[in-house]
Amino acid sequence: MKRLAVLTSGGDAPGMNAAIRAVTRMGLAGGWQVYGIRHGFSGLIKGELELLGARDVGGIMQRGGTMLGTARCPEMKTEGGQVEALRQLGARGIEALVVIGGNGSQTGAHALHQRGLQVVGVASTIDNDLLGTDITIGATTAIDVALESIDRLGVTASSHQRGFFVEVMGRDCGYLATVVGIAGGAESIVVPEQDTSPEAVATEIRDAYRRGKTHAIIVVAEGAKYGADALARYFDEHEAQLGFDMRVCKLGHVQRGGVPGAADRLLATQLGAAAVEQLDAGNHGVLVGMRCGQVSTTPLAEVVGATKPPDTRLLQLAAVLTR
Ligand code: F6P
Repeated sequence: MKRLAVLTSGGDAPGMNAAIRAVTRMGLAGGWQVYGIRHGFSGLIKGELELLGARDVGGIMQRGGTMLGTARCPEMKTEGGQVEALRQLGARGIEALVVIGGNGSQTGAHALHQRGLQVVGVASTIDNDLLGTDITIGATTAIDVALESIDRLGVTASSHQRGFFVEVMGRDCGYLATVVGIAGGAESIVVPEQDTSPEAVATEIRDAYRRGKTHAIIVVAEGAKYGADALARYFDEHEAQLGFDMRVCKLGHVQRGGVPGAADRLLATQLGAAAVEQLDAGNHGVLVGMRCGQVSTTPLAEVVGATKPPDTRLLQLAAVLTR
């Protein structure tokens, strides 16, 4: 009997469960025996695999996180880790692997594919920084979670005439910060891809105060050159006259823990099912994503190590709309 395994890896993302469910049920429908791997590549290397039936993946779609667990696995960067991962699969007669995760996870997937395994990646990370897809599983829900927090911060900030540096996730990519900043009506957005100086941020805050705004929200991606703490420190030392009394709020992992919204459940279901279809079609070594509303595939070799370029039109729009 043909056998496939599925794992989730890297940072968890709301919607991963819907992808696991789709891979499992689509696989079973196509005559595959399906194994779930616990705790990502780490669990694979340790042999934490179990058979999944249709009922095992029932009632999980509405839950955030991942029912399989996840991990970051430095061992997968080593030859020893990769060889052991293949051995664990081979010992069970598993010929194919679906990897649900972001850039680091797809790098592991690519390495195993280069060693001869049939691998398909599913684009999943709240950062939405993967090439080959317009949107990744989890990003939309994370945006909604961050947005709700920003709306609330705006309320308390207005009452006190305060400003907030709100730090959102995004190690190398400012997508979350950009979208959250625009949808949250932020006065300024600071992303890793642009070299924004603290002086420029100070000017925007002062201008907002002079224009009569009751508060200022500065959305900062964690990977920006000046993060929220660094900006606050800089202003403490150099810029006493901003108008607003500034505070820092780091949303951090709260953004990852949301209940997956409809868009993420649907996206994850489509991509999970498409991953099995690609295996059936013999199209391996690819990432499945969604482009212009259609499921698409991109060679993992093109995806790994690359980062999606920032949407400069959105950033320009944000700069205009903050007036
Ligand atoms: O999964 C992506 C991400 O959420 C990044 O935005 C963030 O930098 C990182 O994961 C945090 O990783 P960890 O949960 O391992 O601290």
